[in-house]
Amino acid sequence: MTRSLGFWNFMAPRYARQTVSDQPSYAYKLAQTQALMHRDMNVLEFGCGTGSTALTHAPHVGQITGIDYSPKMIDIARSKLGDSTNVHFETATLDGWTAPDASYDMIMGMNILHLLTDHKAALKRAYTLLKPNGYLVTSTACLGDMGGIVKHLLPIGSTLRLLPYVAQFTCDALEADFASAGFEVRQSWRPGEGRATFHICQKPSEASFVPRGPDAV
Ligand SMILES: C[S@@+](CC[C@H](N)C(=O)[O-])C[C@H]1O[C@@H](n2cnc3c(N)ncnc32)[C@H](O)[C@@H]1O
Repeated sequence: MTRSLGFWNFMAPRYARQTVSDQPSYAYKLAQTQALMHRDMNVLEFGCGTGSTALTHAPHVGQITGIDYSPKMIDIARSKLGDSTNVHFETATLDGWTAPDASYDMIMGMNILHLLTDHKAALKRAYTLLKPNGYLVTSTACLGDMGGIVKHLLPIGSTLRLLPYVAQFTCDALEADFASAGFEVRQSWRPGEGRATFHICQKPSEASFVPRGPDAV
């Protein structure tokens, strides 16, 4: 974790200068997400990086909070705030983020789940923080599905401490993890071979989760 944090702090200024490599796919993901948004939504984005996505969505929601464990990323995100009054950026991890249960209408995790050593714990935390019917929106590199050299180079780079930790789950395994955490997968979209998969998941309404007693049929 500390080694990966050093990597992301180091990367922050470079990350801020990068342009989005696949603009049409990014625009599609933004549009699909905004189609679910409304002006009184409370939104959390974890692993927000330099804040571009949160700032883009801000005019479509009530409040949006971006958190990232890299203080360098958060410094850059805050420097881009401008006149936005409904966006806040804080240095934090999702598991360390203290907010009341069921306080968010949407939680976003873009290009982050595969970087966590325990993404299943993050999904459970997101579930707890979401209101019933709330949305979890993610974009995730499912390395387990990727062929070619990338699949092997990333873990080697990670073992050699040149790159941050990267998990190797498949998209099917990730979707099973969404379901185990209690989510229903509403959309799964991958722009092409070897690309990150975009997921929209939903926490069911409370009625769907009425606990069944031992005598229930
Ligand atoms: C690939 S960048 C994605 C940033 C942004 N979401 C985007 O799509 O451009 C991953 C971000 O996750 C953060 N991150 C990586 N590992 C993390 C961890 N274990 N806990 C919290 N944040 C982490 C990094 O600091 C970095 O800003």
